[in-house]
Amino acid sequence: MKHMENRYGGKLHFGMIGLGTMGRNLLLNLADHGYSVAGYDKNPEQVQRLEKEKANDQVHGFTTLDAFLDALQSPRVVMMLVPAGPIVDAVIADLAPHLAKGDILIDGGNSKFTDTDRRAKMLSDQGLNFIGMGVSGGEEGARRGPSMMPGGNLEAYHHVQTMFEAIAAHVKGDPCVTYIGPGASGHFVKMVHNGIEYALMQLIAETYSLLKNGLNFTNQEMADLFQQWNSGRLGSYLLEITSVIFTVKNPDTGHILVDDISDQAKAKGTGKWTSQFAMDLQVPIPSIDIAVSMRDLSKYGDLRQQLGKQSNSERIWEGDRQALKESLERAFFFNLVLIYSQGMHLLSKASAEYGYRLNLADIARIWRGGCIIRSHFLDTIYTAYLRDPDLEHLVLDPVIQNMLEEGLDAARTVTAQAVTSGFPVPVMATTLNYYLSLASSRLPTNLIQAQRDFFGAHTYELTGKEGVFHTEWPEID
Ligand code: 6PG
Repeated sequence: MKHMENRYGGKLHFGMIGLGTMGRNLLLNLADHGYSVAGYDKNPEQVQRLEKEKANDQVHGFTTLDAFLDALQSPRVVMMLVPAGPIVDAVIADLAPHLAKGDILIDGGNSKFTDTDRRAKMLSDQGLNFIGMGVSGGEEGARRGPSMMPGGNLEAYHHVQTMFEAIAAHVKGDPCVTYIGPGASGHFVKMVHNGIEYALMQLIAETYSLLKNGLNFTNQEMADLFQQWNSGRLGSYLLEITSVIFTVKNPDTGHILVDDISDQAKAKGTGKWTSQFAMDLQVPIPSIDIAVSMRDLSKYGDLRQQLGKQSNSERIWEGDRQALKESLERAFFFNLVLIYSQGMHLLSKASAEYGYRLNLADIARIWRGGCIIRSHFLDTIYTAYLRDPDLEHLVLDPVIQNMLEEGLDAARTVTAQAVTSGFPVPVMATTLNYYLSLASSRLPTNLIQAQRDFFGAHTYELTGKEGVFHTEWPEID
């Protein structure tokens, strides 16, 4: 049996199941902050890797579940970082019979929030506390400070709060972790984080396409421009890494690596879920929807090749390079504001529907550091919700409304020029249409009402008159 005494003379503070890069790095992060930790993985190579990378005697690796659980202090705090889906259920099935009442089980993966709901109910019936926690920041975040979104049992969260606050990223002295709310709210919020991530990535990709193919920017020029933008109001982790991507070479070809990478993008599903659940809640988030669709469309490589040869899709961008560059910065900002706004709108609706009582200011606050969508603009969102916690939509905040009105012209110009020049800009066009529609006091949907009533007697409502109406429309042959 493994020697269990650590330098605090007691059992270990924290256990991790799943020692992939994320799990291992989070344990090492905890150990850096003085916590004694246990790691368990069925794969002995992963356990060896943990042992090899540990910097102090606070880190212990285990290859058997019994020894791992035995090493933990009571109530045990056990986190799973395993691939979302059936593997989480399999781990719970193995683990739950060995846990005691009051133990705390945390799922730190990207689980679907409906699965988290089901698991939380099942585990609470067994007297166990379950926390569904979104963790963002990738490998580096896990090691140096992620953003964490824990939801579920509040008392259980209080038990781990100090630990999580210690290992989280910090912005202006504030840890990027907070209790999100009951049930599966933590995983819901992480899912929306990822939806925003998809749309921002597609926005950056469209901007790249316009710069490279429209304005003939070199990779170095794009690296410089993105770096310059990153130091201003567009400052964000995704822009920062993109500027670096344009400088990294493929050692095999000597090209800049991104030029050699296939254009067919993969996805693990969190973006798709965001769209699916938003549609269930009837919250429009079209910029996220189209970003998900574009990853899917990218996979039809052969079809695109075939059609590309047949279609008259000549692409010529005309206009003053400097002026377009400036318009692009403004259009980018307009899009960025509306992408976050759609995500926050979904959170506010979900909060009401699912009883999450989300504190949107706090969510913006903990996204300012550690996570993939961290950006300067989150500070503006944070202060908007501090000003008015019940804000129906960010576009109604006076500061944000000014920003949007100030960027609207540029968004129109860039989108129109891109489209007339033959460049697809699906997120930019969708975001602009979203804003224009949202700012329309009358939409053409009255006609849709009439059509529904014509072919299906679905009835319609009238402006200025209460009730539901049906018309006997003329017969057609
Ligand atoms: C994060 C990321 C992460 C996600 C990857 C891949 O916040 O650290 O969102 O959780 O798994 O970004 O997502 P896709 O494979 O769906 O692009």
